[in-house]
Amino acid sequence: MEPVAGVTTAGRGGRAGQRARYGIDGGYAGLAVFGLIEAGLAGTVAWAARRRRPAVAALACLGGAAVAGSAASYLYSTGPGKRGIWAQLLDELGLRGDEHVLDVGCGRGAVLMLAARRVPAGRAVGVDVWRRRDQSGNSRAAAERNAVAEGVRDRVEVADADARDLPFAPASFDVVVSSLAISNIRGASGRAQALREAVRVLRPGGRLRIVDDGADRYAPVLREAGCTGVTVRQLGWRTWYGIPGHHIPLVAAARPADPGSSL
Ligand SMILES: C[S@@+](CC[C@H](N)C(=O)[O-])C[C@H]1O[C@@H](n2cnc3c(N)ncnc32)[C@H](O)[C@@H]1O
Repeated sequence: MEPVAGVTTAGRGGRAGQRARYGIDGGYAGLAVFGLIEAGLAGTVAWAARRRRPAVAALACLGGAAVAGSAASYLYSTGPGKRGIWAQLLDELGLRGDEHVLDVGCGRGAVLMLAARRVPAGRAVGVDVWRRRDQSGNSRAAAERNAVAEGVRDRVEVADADARDLPFAPASFDVVVSSLAISNIRGASGRAQALREAVRVLRPGGRLRIVDDGADRYAPVLREAGCTGVTVRQLGWRTWYGIPGHHIPLVAAARPADPGSSL
């Protein structure tokens, strides 16, 4: 099982002294910082009011605790929570180790590197358009540095590509994964196009795993694209992203093994 806490350190073949850093998802980095500042202010009010206005102090403490808890939850979900969930999802696939895996919208590679570790004799390919507003410090170079730090550079490729127009031949990959990326594409038709592309590059019998806000809405599109075994599952508290009760779904699907399918 992968370590799930904090920033992954180089080891097991990673370059000594380098640490993989996966950034913070979304424009929410600002939100997290704002939350911490708010919590600090609430603490200050509580401290100042503690003698003369204990009720105000108590309320400020409660507000501060709620904001701090929300920020902590966000940071947990964007880091160790996400990596823990994906480690589990990838383990559930029971990979042999020689598969070709594609990560659509890989960003700095949190999921890509987890996949790469599981395919020592295979390939892990990540594509992205590297939008900074979707992940802090997002760049192809950051993903490449993380591959070195994680000791998987030999089997990782990263390429500039839009999810709606993947530069791969049909049936190129055994597994296609995507984490929190497709929802960033504007318009339902653009998202549907990205899903069809993910299915197109999947080999017959290949498997697809997408974790994304609104991934439950992807299920009909995947069925229409010819996928079988399409299931949706809520991923629980690790995907709260600062909002208790908010769950990000996983949609799982497979491309039928029958080469005569409609795809
Ligand atoms: C929230 S980040 C998630 C990154 C990574 N999958 C992860 O979980 O750490 C969303 C990613 O989707 C990428 N993205 C947005 N629109 C895209 C598109 N049309 N094609 C490919 N990637 C896209 C962004 O550049 C960003 O790297």
